[in-house]
Amino acid sequence: MSRELLCVESLRLRAGEGNEQRSLVSDVSFSVHEGRVTTLIGSSGSGKSLSCLAGLGLLPLGVRRAGGRVTLCGRDLDGLSPAAHRQMLGREAALIMQNPMSCFDPLHTIGSHFQETLAAHENGRLDMDRCTEVLARVGFEQPRQMLPLFPFEMSGGMLQRVMIALALLLGARLLVADEPTTDLDVVSQARVLDILDDLCREQGLGILLVTHDLSIVARLAREAYVMHAGRVVEQGEVTAIFESPRHHVTRELLRAHHDLAGFAPVDASCGAKT
Ligand SMILES: Nc1ncnc2c1ncn2[C@@H]1O[C@H](COP(=O)(O)OP(=O)(O)OP(=O)(O)O)[C@@H](O)[C@H]1O
Ligand SMILES: [Mg+2]
Repeated sequence: MSRELLCVESLRLRAGEGNEQRSLVSDVSFSVHEGRVTTLIGSSGSGKSLSCLAGLGLLPLGVRRAGGRVTLCGRDLDGLSPAAHRQMLGREAALIMQNPMSCFDPLHTIGSHFQETLAAHENGRLDMDRCTEVLARVGFEQPRQMLPLFPFEMSGGMLQRVMIALALLLGARLLVADEPTTDLDVVSQARVLDILDDLCREQGLGILLVTHDLSIVARLAREAYVMHAGRVVEQGEVTAIFESPRHHVTRELLRAHHDLAGFAPVDASCGAKT
């Protein structure tokens, strides 16, 4: 049995205070294992991003966990000091988001982003060999030449690969990737997806992937959790969900993507309504 890297149990998220309180996520549970891509799918606003962020203990201002338990790489998040949490977020788990440009300081080179990442977690020395090794692992053929570049000198696809390299630099075992290819052109998308697939298969990384693109799910993911209105409405192996979806929300998502290669159009009447 592969190691469980993230376990979210009965998560409840709320926003607002007093009478203004509202529930955003209710009773959501999911887990991510090493060597597998697990995906959260569902319509816009269904709670995918907040569930990912809660899994890393990175909820935005105004949203709080009102219940449930999160175990990240074997540690209960509630038991971690802020310093221990910060350390875990580099060494054990990393977040990759939709718009990579927003994650970089425009005034700093790629090399200084590597240096800062190392400084935050280690003694700060820029280990050139390690930097070039992780840049090569994400497909840069001349990795050393990337270090003096500024973010604006790179494409979105290149920056997304640098983000993944920064995660690998400290040895993260879990990657949480929230729509990592949505802003990229198709060639860059394919490249980033190939890299995620390789990291998962060859290095045993666990990946939690959020995407609206079910062809990416079909290609990469082993397990899927379908979210709707802040709840998980269906979960299971991707092949089983695609072949015989049980919940009408899943059937609607699949119908919208019925031209997926290798999957027949879904009959809206099939399966039990839940
Ligand atoms: N910082 C916040 N404060 C209050 N409510 C929020 C906040 N962030 C998100 N929400 C609300 O929580 C719900 C879930 O949002 P979330 O961003 O997780 O959706 P999502 O499934 O990722 O959607 P999308 O596919 O559009 O990215 C939505 O109703 C959203 O409006
Ligand atoms: Mg989102």
